[in-house]
Amino acid sequence: MKHALIIYSGGLDTTVCVPLMRERGFERISTVCIDVGQPQADIDQATERAKIMGTEHVVLDVKEEFAAQHCFPAIHANADYFGYPLSTAIARPIIGQQAALYGLKVKADAFVHGCTGKGNDQFRIEFGLRMFAPEIPIIAPIRDANLTRTWEIEYAEKVGAPIGQSKDKIWSIDENLWGRSIEGGRLEDPSYAPPEEIFQWTRGFDACPNEPESVTISFEKGNPVAINGEALAPAAIVAKANEIAGRNGVGRIDMMEDRMIGLKVRENYECPGATMLIHAHKGLEALVTTHPERRFKAQVDQQWAEMAYQGLWWDPFMEDLNAFIGSVQTRVTGDVTLRLFKSSMQIMQRSSPFALYSEAAASFDDVEALEQSQMTGMVKTHGMASLLYAKLKSSGAL
Ligand code: ARG
Repeated sequence: MKHALIIYSGGLDTTVCVPLMRERGFERISTVCIDVGQPQADIDQATERAKIMGTEHVVLDVKEEFAAQHCFPAIHANADYFGYPLSTAIARPIIGQQAALYGLKVKADAFVHGCTGKGNDQFRIEFGLRMFAPEIPIIAPIRDANLTRTWEIEYAEKVGAPIGQSKDKIWSIDENLWGRSIEGGRLEDPSYAPPEEIFQWTRGFDACPNEPESVTISFEKGNPVAINGEALAPAAIVAKANEIAGRNGVGRIDMMEDRMIGLKVRENYECPGATMLIHAHKGLEALVTTHPERRFKAQVDQQWAEMAYQGLWWDPFMEDLNAFIGSVQTRVTGDVTLRLFKSSMQIMQRSSPFALYSEAAASFDDVEALEQSQMTGMVKTHGMASLLYAKLKSSGAL
C-alpha cells in the first residue's frame, strides 16, 4: 500500500492534496500538522478536516523546541532581513525537519507539501525534508501541476473536500510564535494602505494606551529568561513579549520584500515580541561588546539573515556564523528596560555584569583609567595620510 505523508495546515492548498494523492494511487494517507504556535482554531480545523477526509492525522507540538532552537538563535543574530525578523522563514525548516522524522517513523513512501511555485517556502520546507529524510521523494502537487486557487476551490467542491469558507478568504495568513504574515488580495498593490482589519497581534496607533508602559527583559547568554522579573520558559517568554509589545502597537512591518526567486513583493507582518526582544538584545550587546566585535557582528548578522531567509538552517556556513554569534553571546547577560508608547520603543536602562563600559574612564574622573594628557601624541598622528595627500596635491604632483 503506497503511503503519502502530507504536511497539513488545514488550509485550501494542503486540503486538496488529500484527494489529489488518492487519485495518484496512494491508498494510505497520513496528515501531519506541526504546531509552531499558530492559532489553536487553525490546528482544530486541520484535525476536523483530516477526520472528514479519513486521513491518519497527528498534531506535533514543537513550540518549545521552535522557541529555544529557532527563535532564540534569531535573537542572538538580531534577525533582520530588510526589516523583517524572519518569522515565517525560521519556522519552515523545523516543519520540514519534524515532518521528515515523522515520515521515517511511519515509513512514508512520499512527502507532500502544498507550497506554490512563487514563494520561498518550497525551498525551506523541501530542504528540511531532504536534510533529514533524503531517500523519501517529495511531491508538490500545487506547484507541479500549476494549479490555481480557483481550480482548487472548484475541484474541492467537486470531490467534496472540506474547504469551508476558503472561497471568500481575502488574505493569505501565516502565523507562528515568532510572528504573523498577511499577504495577498489588494495588499499586493504597494499603493494600497493596509486596512486595520488585517492586524490581530498589534494595536493601531489610535488604540494604544495613553500611558507608556515600561518592561524589563533579563537575558542570560543572549537568551531572554525573564520579563519584569518573572522567569519564563522559551515559548512562554516569546508569547509574553508578543502580548506586551502588541498592546503598545510595536512590531508592525510593511515592506517591499525580495523573494528568493527574484520576485519583489509587498509584505505585511506583525512581529511584536520579536521586534521588542531583538531591540533589547541589540541594546545589551552594545554594552558588552567591543567596537570591532560590534562592527563585525553586524556583518555576520546580515549573512545569518540571508541564510535564514533561504531556510538553510543546517548549512555549514550557518554553523560557522552561529559559532561566532554564539561566542559573543557568552557575555550577553543582563537587564534591559524599555519604554513602549504608541508603537514606539526606547531603551531606558541597561545593566550587565560584563559591561565594557566604565563610567570612570568615560568621564575622565579616574586618572588611573585614562590620563587625558597622554592623548596629545596620539591625536597628532590622526589624519596623517590625509595631510601627506594634501601636501602632494599642493606641490603640483597630482
Ligand atoms: N514572504 C514571507 C517569507 O518568505 C512570508 C510568507 C508567508 N505566507 C503567507 N501566506 N502569508 O518569509
